[in-house]
Amino acid sequence: MAKMNESFLELKTNYLFAEIANRVRAFEEANPNPELPLIRMGIGDVKLPIPQMILDAGKKSLDELGVAEAFRGYEDSGRGYLFAREAVASYYASFGVEINADDVFISDGAKSDTGNIGDLFSPDSVVIITDPVYPVYDNASIMRGHRVVRSNFVTDELPEKADIIYLCSPNNPTGDAYTFEQLKKWVCYAKKVGAVIIYDSAYEAFIQEPDKCPSSIFEIEGAKECAIEIASLSKNAGFTGIRAGYTIVHKELMLEDAKGEKVSLAELWKKRQASKFNGVNYSAQRMIESALSFEGQQALHENIKYYQENARIIMDALTELGIKFTGGVNSPYVWFKCPNTGDSWEFFDFLLNKVHVVGTPGIGFGANGAGMFRLTAFSTRENTTEAMRRFREKIPTVRNS
Ligand code: MLT
Repeated sequence: MAKMNESFLELKTNYLFAEIANRVRAFEEANPNPELPLIRMGIGDVKLPIPQMILDAGKKSLDELGVAEAFRGYEDSGRGYLFAREAVASYYASFGVEINADDVFISDGAKSDTGNIGDLFSPDSVVIITDPVYPVYDNASIMRGHRVVRSNFVTDELPEKADIIYLCSPNNPTGDAYTFEQLKKWVCYAKKVGAVIIYDSAYEAFIQEPDKCPSSIFEIEGAKECAIEIASLSKNAGFTGIRAGYTIVHKELMLEDAKGEKVSLAELWKKRQASKFNGVNYSAQRMIESALSFEGQQALHENIKYYQENARIIMDALTELGIKFTGGVNSPYVWFKCPNTGDSWEFFDFLLNKVHVVGTPGIGFGANGAGMFRLTAFSTRENTTEAMRRFREKIPTVRNS
């Protein structure tokens, strides 16, 4: 009989958001008509529709596919259409970062690329993961058999050896964004130990303090030689269903082969993508082009502001209840210590059963998330306001340190 990849045995039984979905389903089956409707503030899935101009770009592209002269089949560069890659480069130029369209790879979202990029590294690689963290980095590294070092990086020392460093800023789940100084330190460290930073910038559009927190790791000098940036249009443009994002790999970024020869990481990624991925559909790429244009960004700004206001409503309620939190300012996530219990799942069950609000238990993001909890601002205004009304009513005022 064929043998399984034993690394899968090290994974938690269920992916975090699948486990939450199971528990919510069981609750709904047991309580078909709860006196208060369930409010979902767990997975970071957007609620606002995609702005009309971006939809129109998608519709127009579909019409083109119905005309023989305009029809398109496979896109042969394997990196995405030039118009989409140029749109990414122009978007970065709008906040002062120079990107060459040749260094852009259009993707079907950040999750796939953050999970797949590890294919390019040696099987004995050491992966640094900040804990708590988006579970994809951890799970993908475990599946591949890489050695994972998890650290809180507040009290823990940085290891002497590292090959891959996953960073996410603004962070999922804590909602904190790295400052220029903090990110500079990571770049210096990566260069010192010869590691590659996989920088997940999925929540970049939520940064409200651009003078303090960079929108891209490429705002840091020297990052081109040691970092990849993986971005998404899910959270800013509402593409969670469309599936589209992009990854930037500069030509300057090198790995080493067993003989000590330098190999371009971008070339390896091209080979990997050409072998296992046939690109993102044409319409999604036209929608990327539209979303990243000046007008598209203006339209999306309204959606971002809406979620930022939701985050403010959550922060106000937690402040009133004496619950300390991080995030919410530069992020759609608010992260806090569970009131009256040190157990994240216990608080999850309490919220689900007594408050009829779904959130995400911090322990699902790693050991350092124990006793913590995450709420997302990606809800409607009505539901966010109602959820916080219930918090005020059902969660006694606590003072936790
Ligand atoms: C989350 O809620 O952490 C994310 O939305 C999940 C994802 O993007 O895959």
